[in-house]
Amino acid sequence: MWSGRVNPTLVSSLTGTAVGHALEVGCGEGADALWLAEQGFEVTAVDASPRALARGEAERTTRVAKDGITRNVRWIASDVVADPLPTPPERYDLVTAHFLHIPAADRKVLWKKLVQAVAPGGTLLIVGHSLEDLEAGLRRPPADLMFDHTELTAAIPRTWTKRTVDLHNREQSTPDGQSVVVRDIVALATR
Ligand SMILES: C[S@@+](CC[C@H](N)C(=O)[O-])C[C@H]1O[C@@H](n2cnc3c(N)ncnc32)[C@H](O)[C@@H]1O
Repeated sequence: MWSGRVNPTLVSSLTGTAVGHALEVGCGEGADALWLAEQGFEVTAVDASPRALARGEAERTTRVAKDGITRNVRWIASDVVADPLPTPPERYDLVTAHFLHIPAADRKVLWKKLVQAVAPGGTLLIVGHSLEDLEAGLRRPPADLMFDHTELTAAIPRTWTKRTVDLHNREQSTPDGQSVVVRDIVALATR
């Protein structure tokens, strides 16, 4: 269902970051997981949809057959709210979630789990559609599934060495093919 292309905020936020173990939650069809694996991360990619994960694995196999470059991705079908996050490792060098829009009570549980899953010195990246774009005429989740600056700032401990929560501009095509600039809410933090 999704574009199959890597999310630009992942690329702009992480290019040049030291590689290690990465956990991606709500990975969908795995475009970001594959990009991370191509950077050298050992990726654990989790989604509730086994069908989406199967598409990710099919794409991984196709790419490996084409260029012979190994891509380490462990695909896990799991509910990231109800189930424990996958181990090992106990903690990851990178924990990331893109456009995972779920109810507020579930987000409260999830943000806590994601924060706990980051290793000391590791990075947390959470990206979502912003409430500011609800009037833009684009397909968006209902407002109660969206999160804002206040929520993400409160979710990330103040003691972390770096913590930014900002709106980032991104170009997107409307259903009738026009290009518009949308805004994403982006939390980037280092433990
Ligand atoms: C909008 S898609 C985003 C996919 C991908 N991150 C991207 O940016 O293209 C949201 C994904 O989150 C998954 N998802 C929603 N709730 C989930 C949950 N509780 N546990 C695991 N995955 C979930 C859905 O199956 C879907 O693949």
